[in-house]
Formats: sequence, structure tokens, C-alpha cells
Amino acid sequence: MRIVLLGSGRGSNAEAILQAQAAGRLGRGQVVQILSDQPAAGILELGSRFGVPARFVDPAPFKTKLEGEGEDRWIAAIRACEPDLVVLAGFMRVLKPGFLGAFAGKIINLHPSLLPSFPGLDGIGQAWRRGVKVTGCTVHRVTAEVDGGPILDQLAVRVEPDDTFASLAAKIHAAEHVLLPAVIARLSETGA
Ligand code: GAR
Repeated sequence: MRIVLLGSGRGSNAEAILQAQAAGRLGRGQVVQILSDQPAAGILELGSRFGVPARFVDPAPFKTKLEGEGEDRWIAAIRACEPDLVVLAGFMRVLKPGFLGAFAGKIINLHPSLLPSFPGLDGIGQAWRRGVKVTGCTVHRVTAEVDGGPILDQLAVRVEPDDTFASLAAKIHAAEHVLLPAVIARLSETGA
């Protein structure tokens, strides 16, 4: 299963996926390309560490979505990899119908809350401010509804009385690093 990883930030989840692959825990999955919409993103540094091609693809002209010329460049870059699975690992852009149609049924996303609670930006902060006692992370298939596609799996995290926002965020990230590689491995073995 050929995997393309898309990310905008530090890339800790991409790193967890690459470590799982190196340890033989990614099923039939193989990461073939890392792409970022941010030229200085940490995720791009993983390429040389893990021997996977990694590069910036210009998302212009929009700041928070992929549409127009930027969407065309991204579709071409991903198509060239002939992916079976496109993984959004901290990719902070809204995807439009052209992109979704190009990779229909192949895109999955990681979100730092128990969807359908707290979709959109800052899922951890939304849950923290709301005062929930259980939150977590979700991997779901991507559809046109932002953070609304079919849920593949979730891990719950308890908010303890002595948690701070930072300690809660750290627990959710740790859960993400377990959940996302496990879902990819399962998809590669069973397709569902
Ligand atoms: C992760 O917490 C992921 O759930 C979140 O971005 C972070 C990326 O971290 N994604 C979203 O909020 C998507 N709406 P990373 O760059 O260290 O993997």
C-alpha cells in the first residue's frame, strides 16, 4: 500500500508512522512521499532521516484551503506518487471537491478530539475550555464535510484533575502516535 503523508507542522505523527514502518508495524504500508504546504515545516526534515522523498508544494494563492492553481499543483504532485492512501497528518488546509474527487476513498485524517465533538481548528483547546472529562483523538475518512467523514477509529484520553492544557495536549499527542499507525496498518491488511 503506497502512502503519501501530508503535513503542515512539526510532523510528530508522520514520525510515528515512519518509526512504525521501520519496526515492521505498518502492515503492508510503505511511505513513498512526504509533502508539506509550509517550506520550513519540521515534517520535511523526516525525509532525510528515514530515506523518504520530502518536499514543499506551493499551495498559493489561498491561505487556509487548497483551490485553484495550488490545488492543481497538489493533485499533480500526489498523482505522480500513485498512492493507495493519502494521510493527512497535521495538514491544516480545507480540501475542495477537485482534490477530494482526485483521490476519492483514499484520504484519511487525524483529528485531536473525539469527533463529532470539537471539529475544526484547535480541537484540544476547544475540549479543554469546555471542561470535558474525556477527550482523545480520531482517524476518519475525509469527505467534503470538514472533520465529518466516517470514523475509522478513536482513542480516549481522560482529563485528570491535575492536568494542565499542556499535559492534556501531550497525552492526546501520545495517543495519536499509537492510533494513526495502527489504523494505517489495519487498512493495509483489511482495507477497512
Ligand atoms: C495533530 O495533533 C493533529 O491531530 C492535528 O495537528 C497536529 C499535528 O501534529 N490536526 C488537526 O488539528 C487537523 N484538524 P504533528 O505535526 O506533530 O503530527
